[in-house]
Amino acid sequence: MPMTMVDSFGRMVTGLRIALTHRCNLKCIYCHHEGELEPEREIPAEMVASIAKAAADLGVRSLKFTGGEPLLRKDLADLISQMPDGLEVSLTTNGILLARQAHDLADAGLDRVNVSLDSLRPETYSAITGCKEGDMQKVLAGIKASNDEGLAPIKMNVVVLKKNEAEVPEMIEFCRQKGLILQLIELLDLKGLGISGDIDGIERKLQAMADSVKTREMHRRKKYFLDGAEVEVVRPMDNTEFCANCTRLRVTSDGKIKPCLLRNDNLIEIATCDCEKIKDLLLAANARREPYFTAKFDSSRNQS
Ligand code: 5AD
Repeated sequence: MPMTMVDSFGRMVTGLRIALTHRCNLKCIYCHHEGELEPEREIPAEMVASIAKAAADLGVRSLKFTGGEPLLRKDLADLISQMPDGLEVSLTTNGILLARQAHDLADAGLDRVNVSLDSLRPETYSAITGCKEGDMQKVLAGIKASNDEGLAPIKMNVVVLKKNEAEVPEMIEFCRQKGLILQLIELLDLKGLGISGDIDGIERKLQAMADSVKTREMHRRKKYFLDGAEVEVVRPMDNTEFCANCTRLRVTSDGKIKPCLLRNDNLIEIATCDCEKIKDLLLAANARREPYFTAKFDSSRNQS
């Protein structure tokens, strides 16, 4: 029986998210930068390989590379090829550089991709991400290339904002046609921007229209099936169920284990490529895991 990481709240860690860089080629108005403080270094590939091996030995089944923008790492394909067998490897990307990398990434062993695409209208896309209007076409080309390479199921990530909430029906249709899973994400409004869309209203409509609804174990995420389309809704804010069913650990782009997206006061520095030592650190981080939103959630407690 392989070892597993179960925390003191009975939550098993089955997924690891590793931020490969803090750098990004977009400037999304809402970005939480994976909860990272400004880093000084970028995690070396050798350390990522050891972390992945250690995590797999401790029962982690899926690994997601995030950023910043992970496609900015020149060694990404090489890094993916070093991941242990049996681990599902995916990445979350803004898709701008995906068309030209999809083939090599698939060849290296990448299983699937999540592509952030917050609008299908070039003007809105550009207003949200700060890029040129024409850049949206690059993302669409990236999605097509990923599809051609079998990096499926592809999820299209949409953070629900006032700027894009009216587009949800078009997005559902788009994803239905392209065979993508639409992932609607509630804004974590850490900066108090007040730009969040009405995700409650959207979810009520999905509920009314859906042929069937499933609840995923991870984070108790709801999945709606509508006439061949699949829509997943991710609601982390003030959500005690989300936290109670969290199965993740994170690693920051400068090589620290991060037990919770919303906290920076309990990180564990890795600073070694020794797999056995990393296992001990992962176990120590697991011991620090606790739900952020609890029944007696105190909203005054925030990032430190
Ligand atoms: N709220 C919710 N999701 C966010 N992301 C980044 N910042 C935020 C935020 N403030 C998520 C989006 C994006 C991925 C890279 O990170 O899902 O697609």
